[in-house]
Amino acid sequence: MLTFALSKGRLADKIFDMLKKLNLCDVSINDDDRRLVIESDNYRFFLAKPSDVPTFVESGVCDLGVVGRDTLLEENRDITKLLDLGFGKCKMCVCGLVSDKDNYKYKSNLRVATKYPHIAKEYFDSINQNTTIIKLNGSVELGPIVGLSDCIVDIVESGRTLKENGLEVKDVICELSARLVCNNASLKTKYDEIQELLQGFKELLK
Ligand code: PRP
Repeated sequence: MLTFALSKGRLADKIFDMLKKLNLCDVSINDDDRRLVIESDNYRFFLAKPSDVPTFVESGVCDLGVVGRDTLLEENRDITKLLDLGFGKCKMCVCGLVSDKDNYKYKSNLRVATKYPHIAKEYFDSINQNTTIIKLNGSVELGPIVGLSDCIVDIVESGRTLKENGLEVKDVICELSARLVCNNASLKTKYDEIQELLQGFKELLK
């Protein structure tokens, strides 16, 4: 039995799809489904909040997890990264108001609103930029609009949220996508099952 931590929605659907194609299991969920645990013969899936997936995997409650690289960089847990799944592609960016033409790099103490304080701090430290990081839990774009911050560090996927709120990308910090991760001990104790799955996923991604 392999246990998986997944976040509900597109990521979980993709994984269920891949497992079905590999004839490893056949489960699915729809939008109305409120179950948090889904089981098949060889797999058990826990549907967690995306930012909690690394916690489930690091603790050993789950052998495997699927999570965005943004969460991995922010959480920085002791888990094994197995595979870039290639979907859920987006970018971590510094963004600001279109009307703000000053280069944020010249501000002496930059106020940055973000859901990702760790990623933001690392980035600005790497360019020797003094910052005050303001942690928000969502709708981060509001930061510069209401004057709470000079810029934001956030995920940009289609760019629609920025465009519809008068913001733009000022700099790209890194590229992001969904990753398959594994508990360090499970990688040894369940080596064969995990390798079979990993090889299958690699074949599907070719
Ligand atoms: C994410 C992110 C951006 C938006 C980017 O927010 O924080 O706000 O998606 O997507 P786009 O470039 O395709 O517009 P999410 O939907 O998770 O909501 P949140 O603001 O509540 O965190």
